[in-house]
Amino acid sequence: MDLQLTGKVAVITGGSKGIGLGIARAFAREGAHVVITARTEAAVTRAAQAIADEFGVTAVPVASDVSTAEGCQAIIDAAAGIGGADIFVSNAGTGSNETVAEAPDDKWMDFWNLHVMAAVRLSRGLADQMEAKGGGAMLMNASICAVQPLWYEPIYNTTKAALLMFGKCLSTEMIKRGIRVNTVNPGLIRTPDWENTARELKGDDWQSYLQEVADEHADIKRFGTTEELADFCVFLCSPRASYSVGSAYHVDGGMLKTV
Ligand SMILES: NC(=O)c1ccc[n+]([C@@H]2O[C@H](COP(=O)([O-])OP(=O)(O)OC[C@H]3O[C@@H](n4cnc5c(N)ncnc54)[C@H](OP(=O)(O)O)[C@@H]3O)[C@@H](O)[C@H]2O)c1
Repeated sequence: MDLQLTGKVAVITGGSKGIGLGIARAFAREGAHVVITARTEAAVTRAAQAIADEFGVTAVPVASDVSTAEGCQAIIDAAAGIGGADIFVSNAGTGSNETVAEAPDDKWMDFWNLHVMAAVRLSRGLADQMEAKGGGAMLMNASICAVQPLWYEPIYNTTKAALLMFGKCLSTEMIKRGIRVNTVNPGLIRTPDWENTARELKGDDWQSYLQEVADEHADIKRFGTTEELADFCVFLCSPRASYSVGSAYHVDGGMLKTV
């Protein structure tokens, strides 16, 4: 299938590693130029260079914190600098670990800014670029935890649920401007973040820990790969998914326990 993405510009936050890097690589494989962002300058610069070398596309790194207004503006400016965005994937995010009784207000606000305000600010700024180019697509990377919480991370669950709702509200507004908005809710996707957590908890036995997690949660009894998720995301943002508007799609190996 030709995804009709050659020459398009895709902006992916959190594109230096894990899921975001997988999505950026999958866009580049289809001939799209990418703007990838992360806070760690060396990592995002290295990732962009590797994408440009491997796929022969333009890959622009932006080192900024998406949980701030200035960090988002730097990304909007970088996208404008290569002709304007056609696609935006709001991906940067991270898990949490707390109880409601003990977590301070600041922690709630930090995660709100990272998971929700980044999507608000970036979709607002990038929509003008997409409209000027005749339309576009946006994808919110929420989580299965937006609808099926894990007990140890109430702040993550709550802010991802807010992102899911934001995507729905945004969709109704944006489709009038020719921009499709959808949300993806991944289950267990194997990333360096998961591997580091497993190493911290279990040392040399970290691989069997990941298997235990998969056995407990996912019907398919394994983690997904970043490539498996990325292919789905890239299709959803492509013109070939032109009738998919305002929906949430689970990519979770059977982890969701409801219909
Ligand atoms: N892995 C899973 O099983 C899973 C499942 C469901 C949903 N998700 C969601 O998928 C997204 C990616 O997760 P992942 O597992 O790929 O995580 P990851 O491997 O830790 O990568 C996170 C990326 O986001 C960047 N980032 C984090 N905070 C940022 C900030 N404030 N500003 C800019 N960039 C920031 C990181 O770079 P820097 O640290 O250098 O900034 C990195 O590039 C997250 O939103 C996560 O909640 C993951």
